[in-house]
Amino acid sequence: MAKAKKSFLIVGNWKMNPETAEEARSVFSAVARLAAKHKGQSVVVAPPAAFIASLSKKGSPLSVAVQDVSHEASGAFTGSVSAKQAKSAGASYAIIGHSERRAVGDTDELVAKKASRALEAGLRIVLCVGETERDEHAQYLRNVRGQVLSVLSAIDKKEAKDIAIAYEPVWAIGKSYDTAPSPLDIHEMVIYIRKVAAEALGKKLGLAIPVLYGGSVDSKNAKDFLSNAGIDGLLVGRQSLDPKAFGSIIEYAASI
Ligand code: PGA
Repeated sequence: MAKAKKSFLIVGNWKMNPETAEEARSVFSAVARLAAKHKGQSVVVAPPAAFIASLSKKGSPLSVAVQDVSHEASGAFTGSVSAKQAKSAGASYAIIGHSERRAVGDTDELVAKKASRALEAGLRIVLCVGETERDEHAQYLRNVRGQVLSVLSAIDKKEAKDIAIAYEPVWAIGKSYDTAPSPLDIHEMVIYIRKVAAEALGKKLGLAIPVLYGGSVDSKNAKDFLSNAGIDGLLVGRQSLDPKAFGSIIEYAASI
């Protein structure tokens, strides 16, 4: 019997792009057409919150994520979007703890609250963790461990099935595509993250959490990462706005 193909989780993070709703619709529908061809893969895009309602459609082959949620459920928090609101606008995933949010003040404690709000609202979460730099004393491992544990030790074990962790070394985000770490380097961190997840949730649940890689993924290095880094998917920034490049990443995933 042929070996069942692996199903990857491929997430595109549009960040604060594109500028107009019209452009967003055009990128979204091009990616949705590609996702429809590869239904065995889970494909998600995270547009700016302002575009979620107009893009998401029930039954679409392309799921929608919100890029961040408030740590509060409702109230006087001007400019914030709650997890429930994102869910009601059509999001089914939330990116939580992205390094660009951590850079403007999201502490591990805040990230853990946001994760809880998102899970309570029925969203699946992609928890981003990753060091800003690698020091020779391996402090970076302790930092990543802290980022993982602060969330996993705050959740109900029943929610573990709705969590994916994206390892995104900050030094590799938004850089030239050849500065991304090697598949071997990524694989080591993936094993480490799974070990920490197992510490928090027990072996069965912890080792089952999907671990993605993100940081300067492009249509050239994606195949090597998907084949050789021991990952369950990718979190793609810039190249997710280019349907041709993002499409070839989805195709690679489907070919493995
Ligand atoms: P990049 O962004 O692919 O443009 O490096 C990744 C991310 O920030 O999630």
